[in-house]
Amino acid sequence: MIFQTKTKTPITPITETERSAFCREETNLETKPLVEETKSKARWQKIPIEYMRLTPDELDTRISKSKNKLKEKIIILGHHYQRDQIIKYTDYQGDSFKLAQYAASIPELEYIIFCGVHFMAETADILSKKHQKVILPNLTAGCSMADMAITEDVLDCWEDLNELVGNNVVTPITYMNSTAAIKSICGENGGLVCTSSNATEAMKWAFSNREKILFIPDQHLGRNTGKKLGIKLDEMVIWNPFKELGGNTLDSIKNSKLILWQGHCSVHTRFNIDQIENAKKKFPEINIIVHPECTMDVVDNSDFVGSTEYIIKTISESAPGSIWGVGTEINLVNRIAKQNTDKTIFCLDSMVCPCSTMYRIHPAYLCWVLESIESGKIINQIEVDKKIINNSKIALNRMLSLE
Ligand code: 13P
Ligand code: SF4
Repeated sequence: MIFQTKTKTPITPITETERSAFCREETNLETKPLVEETKSKARWQKIPIEYMRLTPDELDTRISKSKNKLKEKIIILGHHYQRDQIIKYTDYQGDSFKLAQYAASIPELEYIIFCGVHFMAETADILSKKHQKVILPNLTAGCSMADMAITEDVLDCWEDLNELVGNNVVTPITYMNSTAAIKSICGENGGLVCTSSNATEAMKWAFSNREKILFIPDQHLGRNTGKKLGIKLDEMVIWNPFKELGGNTLDSIKNSKLILWQGHCSVHTRFNIDQIENAKKKFPEINIIVHPECTMDVVDNSDFVGSTEYIIKTISESAPGSIWGVGTEINLVNRIAKQNTDKTIFCLDSMVCPCSTMYRIHPAYLCWVLESIESGKIINQIEVDKKIINNSKIALNRMLSLE
């Protein structure tokens, strides 16, 4: 047998090297003029200098004015991890599933301004109508996890798996946090997309059709979901894209049910068992709630696990006086705490570490793209390649039609 995968030098995505760019010990996440925020060690998209210097108040006036002028044409969507100074301008907020569904349901609006990260804006472009334009305010707002699955590496893996176990044995599932090209590979090969709110249903669907699953790119969501469905740890293998056959033996792949791409989220892998134990020591009555991108030991030691939308709903509906230790992004945790003042809510990680890509949607960028639309210039439009749009849509629609 000839295999496509070769051992090569591991590459760390730039977004992963920038993961701690906005971490701090002090809790203040108030927005500062962009000229000050860009001092942190991360790449920022170039923007005209006048926007760099605007204060939050000046930005507020200009964004509100521009939004009002464009109100017949635009909608501003926001992922839950966006900072408060962006969320306040959004017309609709959600987790990545809700935002994808919503983007597919508003054909009357010409511009979808997506305050989130690149893969979410791509998804909105795939699911929206041809006449609609999706805008990502800052093009450097990517996702380190999505960057861990490169198209060529996934194609090599896919060819090797088919060579080894035969065609129609493995279903490829990609987490929403992946490029449109990876979604297209899944659509073309009988697979689908999933999000953190429907990964279980996606895996059940896949196992009802074929024997094995290749789960890309988040090993933790894949492992946590597989375990929930009763798959044993020795029936799971990790696919390391920098090693021949992903670093596995022929037998281990043949005997596996779940092949997990070696990717992770730099925000959620910060949570650990010590943080949970410390929180429990301090508050014996505490409820621990985490996102399924956390590692398996963290998930196994938590009381509740689910998507950002699930976390918001579960805490909001809980009894007054209840105590919550939360394992997800800090902007969201702080917002839930502000909206539930009758409860004690805190982030399990004492270091304040926003998602370094989500955080790059600063109000100056929102102001810039809105005022540009007003003046007839479209900036930062996300347009998925026509060659991959059809198959990625197949994979997304399979997800949207899951029960
Ligand atoms: P949700 O789908 O739960 O919003 O998660 C998206 C994400 O990027 C989490 O890191
Ligand atoms: Fe990507 Fe993690 Fe940020 Fe979500 S929180 S966008 S998975 S880096």
